[in-house]
Amino acid sequence: MIFTVAIDGPAAAGKGTISKAVAAHFGFGHLDTGVLYRAVGAKGGDPIAAARTLEPEDLNRADLRTLDAGQAASRVAAIPEVRAALVAFQRDFARREGGAVLDGRDIGTVICPNADVKLFVTATAEVRANRRHAELGGDYDLVLREVIERDMRDAGRADAPMRVADDAIVLDTSDLSIEEAVEQAIRVVAARKA
Ligand code: C5P
Repeated sequence: MIFTVAIDGPAAAGKGTISKAVAAHFGFGHLDTGVLYRAVGAKGGDPIAAARTLEPEDLNRADLRTLDAGQAASRVAAIPEVRAALVAFQRDFARREGGAVLDGRDIGTVICPNADVKLFVTATAEVRANRRHAELGGDYDLVLREVIERDMRDAGRADAPMRVADDAIVLDTSDLSIEEAVEQAIRVVAARKA
């Protein structure tokens, strides 16, 4: 059975948590595509060469979740050749036997335009900064600035900008608990799967 769930949205909206929970609930594989861009940014040197030679162990680095790694990811993600080098791996994963959930910025628009389910998970910048701050600590104002700056770069780039696919369902998690957000996402997927 091939069944693809595309989950896009801005930084710290809850995509990762929701994607993992949806994948676990239905027994699907899960790919956090942000990790690919974070790994390219963290490798240093020429980002195009880094994307073309990305190895599985590059994805296991301990320093990929930091604010700096997020910013570096967002800068290399604006380079068309970097994005092109990562397309085939993501599309292969999407078509894996047994179902797949991919989360990112361009899954429903570019990587898997024919996905069976498309969700766009979002929340206000303040709510997202609060969540990121609770997770990583540091200075709240800096975290908020980082979230806004990264969203602007991701939505404003020419190649595969972050946007809501025409056929995506928008899930605003600003006023939802994690449990409520996960429950709503599972309900949407279950309805399409039936
Ligand atoms: O989701 P995460 O915060 O880990 O993503 C890091 C960065 O990678 C994003 O800010 C974005 O620039 C880039 N990205 C992307 N396309 C994706 C996933 C992530 O451009 N599908």
